[in-house]
Amino acid sequence: MRPSKRLERIPPYVFAQLERKIAEKRAAGVDVISLGIGDPDRPTSPLIVEAMQEAVSEAETHKYPTNRGRDDFRGAVRDFYERRFDVKLDPESEIIPGLGAKEAIFNLNLAFLDPGDYALAADPGYPVYTAGPWLAGAEPVLMALDPERGFTPDLEAIDTEVLARAKLMFLCYPNNPTGAVAPEGFFERVVELAREHEILVVHDNAYSEITFDGYRAPSFLATPGAKEVGIEVFSLSKGYNMTGWRCAALVGNAEALHTYWQLKTNVDSGLFEAVQLAGVAALSPDADAEVASMNELYRRRRELGGEALHKIGVRVKPPHGTIYVWAPVPQGFEDSAGYCEHVLEHTGVVLTPGAAYGPAGEGWFRISLTTPDERLLEAVERLGALEA
Ligand SMILES: Cc1ncc(COP(=O)(O)O)c(C=O)c1O
Repeated sequence: MRPSKRLERIPPYVFAQLERKIAEKRAAGVDVISLGIGDPDRPTSPLIVEAMQEAVSEAETHKYPTNRGRDDFRGAVRDFYERRFDVKLDPESEIIPGLGAKEAIFNLNLAFLDPGDYALAADPGYPVYTAGPWLAGAEPVLMALDPERGFTPDLEAIDTEVLARAKLMFLCYPNNPTGAVAPEGFFERVVELAREHEILVVHDNAYSEITFDGYRAPSFLATPGAKEVGIEVFSLSKGYNMTGWRCAALVGNAEALHTYWQLKTNVDSGLFEAVQLAGVAALSPDADAEVASMNELYRRRRELGGEALHKIGVRVKPPHGTIYVWAPVPQGFEDSAGYCEHVLEHTGVVLTPGAAYGPAGEGWFRISLTTPDERLLEAVERLGALEA
């Protein structure tokens, strides 16, 4: 058997490796605490689970869905975007469901890129921003997120030849892995650049509902002109504790969504209608209180995480959003992978090396706040003991 050359170019998926390492440690009897993967530990809200239970008992949901999505799902996304972001969308042409953001981001690459094309990818960034272009036979071009610019790329520094060949640009705010939120005026500059160079902006909006300190994350589409040049991928995974459900919506530029739909009709058969109905429940105002209480939980854990890092001599600026804390590797360690190995070996605590998200992530590591409080406290203690 010979796998495709395309696949050979892809580095092993970081979390698959991490899962294997954790399994090995556990098999060896180590009590591992994972602060690695960003998979919410709390269950999906009963409001959403009950909507699913009801929906799944209706025979009408058992058939093939359409790739366009149910009217009520698209209606719920329209209402949510208006209520939450003050963004108006036409449910007929500007909203389409996705099987999670990962699927959507990957397939957008297949829908838009040919060999020789470029996709601009935030670095550090979600791994599919680079694997997607590679698997589509195209090339990702990394845009380093500069800590001095609030973890945004220097758009003016992008080579004009690169801009001429770039067809897609992947961005994400609130940002995984850095926890940064989009600084004032940044989205406006992105729209300008995209318009000038005919680049489709894909704003990965996986974390807008998880924010702290009174900060409310905007939609990229709330930026004037954004809908002409971009789409947003809104995932229900993190904000609604629905990672396993695979529920997302792509919203924005109608022509781009039509192209994605064209590809999708050849790739899969749409999002299970019962999951769409669960999504309707999640996006209703009735779920707002649950989202707020999750944010309070993560805010508390963010303090605990900050405390843990302080104990090992690492100082961080508390992030205004996401379920992550991004922190510099302490002095004395060669690189982020070496540091995370050291921590795992000596404490059984799993951290994610920043380099796993791209070269600009080197020198950093990420902790995820999706671990129950008592385990997070235990991790704090173990990290404190490591330094003693
Ligand atoms: C930035 C970002 N985008 C997308 C995803 C995937 O989301 P989904 O579960 O909707 O596929 C993740 C998951 O970790 C993420 O961090």
